[in-house]
Amino acid sequence: MVEKRNSERINDEDVVSALSSESPEISDNDLESKPIPTIIDDLDIQDIPGIGPTTAKKLRDAGVLTVMDLAVTSSEELSVEINSSKESAAAFIIAAQQLLRDSNLLDKEFVTADVALEKRKSLLRCTTGSNALDKLLLGGIETQAVTEFYGEFGSGKSQICHTLCVTASQPVENGGFGSGSIYIDTEGTFRPERVDQIAVSRGLDPTSVLKSIAVCKVYNSSHLELIVKDLGKYINDFKARLVIIDSIISLHRAEFAGRGTLADRQQRLNSMLHKIIRLTEIYNISVVITNQVQSSPDTFFGDPTKAAGGNVLGHASTYRIYLRKSGENRTAKMIDSPYHPYSDTKFTVTEKGADDMEEETSSKRGKLKE
Ligand code: GTP
Ligand code: MG
Repeated sequence: MVEKRNSERINDEDVVSALSSESPEISDNDLESKPIPTIIDDLDIQDIPGIGPTTAKKLRDAGVLTVMDLAVTSSEELSVEINSSKESAAAFIIAAQQLLRDSNLLDKEFVTADVALEKRKSLLRCTTGSNALDKLLLGGIETQAVTEFYGEFGSGKSQICHTLCVTASQPVENGGFGSGSIYIDTEGTFRPERVDQIAVSRGLDPTSVLKSIAVCKVYNSSHLELIVKDLGKYINDFKARLVIIDSIISLHRAEFAGRGTLADRQQRLNSMLHKIIRLTEIYNISVVITNQVQSSPDTFFGDPTKAAGGNVLGHASTYRIYLRKSGENRTAKMIDSPYHPYSDTKFTVTEKGADDMEEETSSKRGKLKE
């Protein structure tokens, strides 16, 4: 069983990478489909029409180093950082996005639906480690999407996250992303030993799996916001196609307690989540977030628990899955999705991480109720 929080922290560094530069486990050739753009080498911020050396310096001073950084920032944030009007900040961002479009690094603003369908076919999916859970997700977690797992303590959220960073390291033909992953741990529950155990139980080389995961221990909500702000850089550095934030809300929830601070909390969560959504699309990555539950006293029928974070989180997640414990097993229910049927399934947690239940492996695995 995985130890609970606050015992031996893994490392005090902001971002601890096991990916050493001398022995990269994941080569560029492993990354299939749309490659993570090597924009830093290809485009310069001064290639953007309207940005000269003075503005470029201001941007650099504000930590905006690449066209990609500029394209994913928000006008409110940028206007404060470079001390400009919101309008000119917005104009720089739009110009950066336009340059990415012109360089075919970002999709055109309007495409016909058949092109959109073709694009969706090229999305990558990564297995969760459980066939039943994969079936619920119609093949696993997707790139260009935010997948949220929420549920009470012990419902398996962190176990799914640990399993996903093992499976993501596997080649695309084996159901992985063939990539590195970034694990942002806000609760102190990441355990490398557990990753090692999951990898060994699945017959994988634990050393190369461990080397593919960059772990970042986050201490407070401002720290989390800062990491998210610079996430584009880390995604490139670690060749990550999967970013896990376990959990997205705990720090904000703890620090912004009480009604008076709720609006501020929601606003900060909102801007962080919007940045995350832009990152999934621009970098073609998958973001998995975990969330807690809160009781909803106004519910007269059915389950009185609901996801924390209100509408801000609800709208940010492309897919929301509600996890519940039922004895040794877990139930996963698709709560919100633009195209999945509303369905539920059962899975369990074993030494292999998220896994199928014994009887599920043989027969009625992942029964879908439309
Ligand atoms: P909170 O973070 O507290 O909200 O919960 P969570 O949903 O993240 O729970 P987590 O994923 O950590 O699940 C914990 C549960 O997973 C434990 O109660 C065990 O049932 C199970 N579990 C954890 N580690 C192991 C393990 O090594 N082997 C097995 N078989 N089960 C494990
Ligand atoms: Mg957890």
